Amino acid sequence: MFISSHSDNGPGDNVFVVSGSASRHLGDSLAKHLGANLAQTEIRRFPDGECYVRIASDLHDQDVILVQTTYPDPNIIELFALQEAVKEAKPKQVTTVVPYYGYARQDKIFKSGETIVARNLARHIELTTDQVILVDIHAPTIPSHFTKPCKAVSSMPQIGEYLKAFSPDAILAPDKGALERAGIVSKALGCQFDNLEKTRLDGETVVMKPKNMDVKGKFVVIVDDIIATGGTIIKATEQLKAQGARQVWAACAHGLYTGGALPKLTKAVDRVLSTDTLESETSVITVAPAVAKALKDWIL
Ligand code: R5P
Repeated sequence: MFISSHSDNGPGDNVFVVSGSASRHLGDSLAKHLGANLAQTEIRRFPDGECYVRIASDLHDQDVILVQTTYPDPNIIELFALQEAVKEAKPKQVTTVVPYYGYARQDKIFKSGETIVARNLARHIELTTDQVILVDIHAPTIPSHFTKPCKAVSSMPQIGEYLKAFSPDAILAPDKGALERAGIVSKALGCQFDNLEKTRLDGETVVMKPKNMDVKGKFVVIVDDIIATGGTIIKATEQLKAQGARQVWAACAHGLYTGGALPKLTKAVDRVLSTDTLESETSVITVAPAVAKALKDWIL
């Protein structure tokens, strides 16, 4: 059972943050950033895996910010239960923050008979909220699935701020499509950025190299939105090391680490970093400042 603590009232006296069990760290961090109250909740699982949620704080007429990642699937039902529990309290308004939007990669129909699950999820989430905030959404189309106001925020400035203390020489995107993200991180650092390009040399050999940069002797950070199997980062790191990179780090918004990816990644890469949209041993960067900024027009 998890019973969250309650902060002293601050400037955001009428603002309450409700954290789901998948987003406790971010919920705490957000409450601190906003000077808001952290709602007392009781969230646990029955022996059959079903969730029990209860909100002990009085949220009547309060501005409520509900934070819950929708991955893996049990956290989706927990979000719906928390949304209903919040609604029962008759708050002034509710903002739902989904730090990692599960199913964002199911945003297109490829074969007849399929459905866009990312849109289905949006339709359910917006039933019991006034507005929504998403972080580093994989598909830019996702906010359009909401009929209620939806803001998409980026954690890349926070990743850049975190890396300042380590002074990397360059930020690399794993492909051209991710170049803009690498640019945002490098802006905070004032360093070079580039994207990796794949060149097929023969039937078996594919070389991955920065498009315009020599990495020899350099400390580089590969930045991606999601690390899932780790395959992209591991392949890129092997190639960059072979090209003489002194140190290779990987940083991402969402550290999914599917199929035991983390031990393989930590063996290949000098350091792996992620944000707290998904909580793990690598999630050392909080997206709270970016979410708090997006909330400003709506609640404070
Ligand atoms: C791709 O579009 C994403 O931005 C990531 O590059 C991808 O999800 C990483 O997957 P994996 O870690 O399995 O290589």
